[in-house]
Amino acid sequence: MPKITIIGAGAVGATAAQRIAEKELGDVVLTDIVEGLPQGKALDLVEAAPLFGYDSKILGTNDYKDIEGSDVVVITAGIARKPGMTREDLLKINTKIIREVSQNIAKYAPESIIITVTNPLDIMTYVTLKTTGFEPARVFGMSGVLDAGRFASFIAMELGCSVRDINAMVLGGHGDTMVPLPRFTTVSGVPITELVPEDTILRLVDRTVNGGAEIVNLLKTGSAFYAPSAAVTNMVEAVIKDTKRILPVCVYLDGEYGRKDIYLGVPVKLGRRGVEEIIELKLTDDEKKALDRSAEAVKAGIASFTELY
Ligand code: NAI
Ligand code: 2OP
Repeated sequence: MPKITIIGAGAVGATAAQRIAEKELGDVVLTDIVEGLPQGKALDLVEAAPLFGYDSKILGTNDYKDIEGSDVVVITAGIARKPGMTREDLLKINTKIIREVSQNIAKYAPESIIITVTNPLDIMTYVTLKTTGFEPARVFGMSGVLDAGRFASFIAMELGCSVRDINAMVLGGHGDTMVPLPRFTTVSGVPITELVPEDTILRLVDRTVNGGAEIVNLLKTGSAFYAPSAAVTNMVEAVIKDTKRILPVCVYLDGEYGRKDIYLGVPVKLGRRGVEEIIELKLTDDEKKALDRSAEAVKAGIASFTELY
């Protein structure tokens, strides 16, 4: 059985552990800094196994030694922004957490593939790469799969059609500047630009860009975790089963899309070696401008992180 570690046994981490175990993608190790939390959630999942009939082993632990030999490590450890806290405060705290987590992954699971989830996503994935020193193909972030899932769900609601037929594409950073691409978003192969009026598309794009905030405003005490954990599970599956799926992933760019030394969401081929190919789409001038704007925002974030440390 492959070994999949999830660091951070909070809402996203524990739900991802559940989904991964239910799909029997591998044995799962769930870790957290809080004593008892991963052990309790893992035991609960173990007790659900006979009821749902999955044979994945699930271990809860506070000891990094238990992550040894992991094939994939998912990082969800971090804190959410609390009232009164600036983005900079959050950046400082989560950078410290990601540094500590990444050092331990490099020490105990040096051959693993890492999927970072912690926000601010593009910057935290950059910190993961720089701290582990892994090759970029083995360090990437989850954002576009979630954002594209949101876009697809809103299109299905609008058209009253099955979500199964929708293939959505969202590029850029995981934030206000993300770039949903209607031209590359299809319903059974038909671009939505041919099915939905432009003002409706703009409304759905806007809802996608603000999708995370919409959930936070409803939940009030936390952020989304069902769709994020589903997105993580899709990515873990693509790696473990070597499916070579083409998905929008936050990856390290070294000249692709005219950008260097930056993490940004673009379509890639995901397989057992991680990011196996970066796919360069031919963008229109407007799409390119939007992606450049997003890249500039991520670059500024990375620069502020460098200034802080
Ligand atoms: P949560 O607060 O429920 O869970 C975070 C867990 O991390 C907590 O259990 C906490 O004890 C643990 N933790 C904190 N410091 C740690 C350390 N040093 N070592 C190990 N564990 C540590 O938060 P939730 O909802 O699970 O979200 C996790 C992160 O993922 C947040 O940063 C959130 O913003 C981000 N996120 C990103 C998404 C994306 O699309 N990239 C989507 C959803 C969430
Ligand atoms: C989301 O998009 C909070 O990044 C998280 O739901």
